[in-house]
Amino acid sequence: MIKKCLFPAAGYGTRFLPATKATPKEMLPILTKPLIQYGVEEALEAGIYTMAIVTGRGKRAIEDHFDVSYELEHQIKGGSKEQLLDEIRSLISRCTFSYTRQVEMKGLGHAILTGETLIGNEPFAVLLADDLCTGGQEGVLAQMIAVYEKYQCSIVAIEEIPFDQTNKYGIIAGTLVDKTQDTYRVSDMVEKPDPQDAPSNLAIIGRYILTPDIFDILRKTKPGKGGEIQITDALLEQAKEGRVIAYKFKGRRFDCGGVDGFVEATNYFYKLSQG
Ligand code: UTP
Repeated sequence: MIKKCLFPAAGYGTRFLPATKATPKEMLPILTKPLIQYGVEEALEAGIYTMAIVTGRGKRAIEDHFDVSYELEHQIKGGSKEQLLDEIRSLISRCTFSYTRQVEMKGLGHAILTGETLIGNEPFAVLLADDLCTGGQEGVLAQMIAVYEKYQCSIVAIEEIPFDQTNKYGIIAGTLVDKTQDTYRVSDMVEKPDPQDAPSNLAIIGRYILTPDIFDILRKTKPGKGGEIQITDALLEQAKEGRVIAYKFKGRRFDCGGVDGFVEATNYFYKLSQG
C-alpha cells in the first residue's frame, strides 16, 4: 500500500515572479484554495493520510496553512464565514503533515532525495502541486495506485503534448502493455529534449509512484540537464531493468506554474463553481 505522499515544494517558481518573490508558488490560489491544498485533497482521496513536504527558504506559509489559526478562528466563530474554513479544518484533522528543508535547490531529484528522511523504506507517491489535475472519475493518484497494485514498480503519469513543447518535460519511450488501461513499459526517458531528439510526445507530468530504491539511485545520480539532479535520470536506471510503467491518466492537467495554465485553471474552476 502507498501510505505517504511527498510534495517537493522548494523550487523558486521563477516563471511566476514577482508573485513568487515572497509567496510560495504552491500557495497561489485557484479561486480561494491554494494549489497545494488541491494536491493534499487528491492524495487524501487516494487513501493517503501522511503528507511529507519538502520546503525551502520563504515557504513558511505552507506550514501555517496546514495549521490551526486560533486568532482567526476565534474572530469568525459563529459567523457566516466560519464555513469557509471547513475544508481545510477537515484536512488538518484527518492528515499528518511533516516537513523537511532542501537547503540548496539542486533540482527535483535532489528534492525527492531530501524527502527520504520523511518517507523511509517504502513505496511512496510524489505530487507536484503546480500540476493541478482534475476531471477523471477519480483523482490521478488514486488511478496510479491501482496501476501500482498491478505492476509493483515505479509509475509515472504521462500525457500527449504537442511536439514543439517536448523541451519543457521529461519524455518517455515505451511499448504499450495494456491498451484498455493505457499503460506503457518505459524503455527510455529524456529530460527536456528538443523536438528533433524527443523519443515521443509522451510527457511525464507531476505525479509519480516511486519504489524506495530510487533513493540509492538518486544518491549516485550526477547533475544532468540544467546542472540539476533530475528524477528522470534516476528513473531511467529503473527503466533499463523494465521497472517503470507510464500511465496515460484520465482527466485534465493544468500547468499552474505558468501564467497561461494558471488562468485556464482559474476559468475552469470558476465555471464549475457556477454550476
Ligand atoms: P520546476 O521545474 O517547476 O521549478 O520544479 P520551479 O523552481 O518550481 O519553477 P520555475 O520553473 O522556476 O518557475 C518542479 C517541481 O520541483 C520542485 C518545485 O517546487 C516544483 O514542485 N523543486 C524543484 C524542488 O522542490 N527543488 C528544486 O531544487 C527544484
